[in-house]
Amino acid sequence: LIHPVILCGGSGTRLWPVSRQSFPKQFSRLVGEESLFQATARRLSGEGFAAPVVVTSADFRFVVRDQLSAIGITPAAVLIEPAPRNTAPAVLAATLWLEQRAPGTLILVAPSDHLMPDPASFRLAVAAGARQARAGGIVTFGITPHTPETGYGYLELASAPADGSAVPLSRFVEKPSLAAATAMVASGRHLWNAGIFLFRSDVMISSFASLAPGLLPPVTRAIDAAKPDLTFLRLAPAAWDEVDAISIDYAIMERAAGLWAVPYGGGWTDLGGWAAIWSEGAGAGTDVVQQGPVLALDCRDSLLRSEDEGLQLVGIGLDGIVAVAMPDAVLVARKADAQRVKDAVEAMKAQK
Ligand code: GDD
Ligand code: MG
Repeated sequence: LIHPVILCGGSGTRLWPVSRQSFPKQFSRLVGEESLFQATARRLSGEGFAAPVVVTSADFRFVVRDQLSAIGITPAAVLIEPAPRNTAPAVLAATLWLEQRAPGTLILVAPSDHLMPDPASFRLAVAAGARQARAGGIVTFGITPHTPETGYGYLELASAPADGSAVPLSRFVEKPSLAAATAMVASGRHLWNAGIFLFRSDVMISSFASLAPGLLPPVTRAIDAAKPDLTFLRLAPAAWDEVDAISIDYAIMERAAGLWAVPYGGGWTDLGGWAAIWSEGAGAGTDVVQQGPVLALDCRDSLLRSEDEGLQLVGIGLDGIVAVAMPDAVLVARKADAQRVKDAVEAMKAQK
């Protein structure tokens, strides 16, 4: 059995006003009928998978519980971080918890902020990486890059991929400069890191011991002194205070040997902004994406979205515009500038 670990503690701001500190994008229904978090949990359930371990913050614990129960999934554990420390401590905490119960077990870590429309081909990719993971490798999943995106990790393949099987990596580069990203995309030897990792629990713990040794003692204490609360498990705050914030990509992946990548072609979108939501909805003869009670007259190349059944949104003659209405906040932006809502969120924080 593979034990899924689902990370959902982040609070994406590039999808404001739908994604907020209090209700981040992974729990919103951005595309389709389920939240990204629910779709992730469902993708990692069924044959071959044990019940998931979810790592999140106290703010989201009831959302996690309710959204899982709505799709009939009972988690093995919901670990609550006293404060966000980025992904490395979250992965380590879940891995230590699992290692205590199933030593040397296979773990699949997944973020909850992606759209992957083809669960069946994703399971095949996981199966393709399982052999290397069992043998002690750390397996990543690679997406063919089409732009020099600087917000992703890059996987440098040591050899050419063949028929979907795992390929050894010569390097892992997290969030490169634009120049480095451009060179890697042009090389044809690099894939984007999907942010999904498959490994044996004991292998990850030894990797932390040798590559990020400062994290192991406080995270171990935070797990050992964790307190049950309803159906949740609260990591010990005093120990967690001593944990440094760092992502798994910087703490482990950039430094580890024995990395592999399974190329994945089944469709993967990081819903990183409103332009990406527009792209998901556009196509098949329409470039005006309408979500909720919306009326669009003579509009082109635009996204109109109302988050409330009682909130009618009307657009007339719009071109290249994103308009998102909620009862307490409205966004209107040029689609090409929509990434900058992140700056707007910062500015609003500063005003408070
Ligand atoms: N529990 C918990 N605690 N989860 C967290 C925390 C935390 O402190 N911080 C982030 N997460 C969750 C997020 O909710 C998300 O689901 C996942 O971990 C990844 O975090 P991001 O902050 O979204 O990472 P990123 O997008 O900058 O980079 C990662 O993903 C890219 C692909 O989207 C890296 O793995 C890149 O290499 C990769 O290309
Ligand atoms: Mg992300």
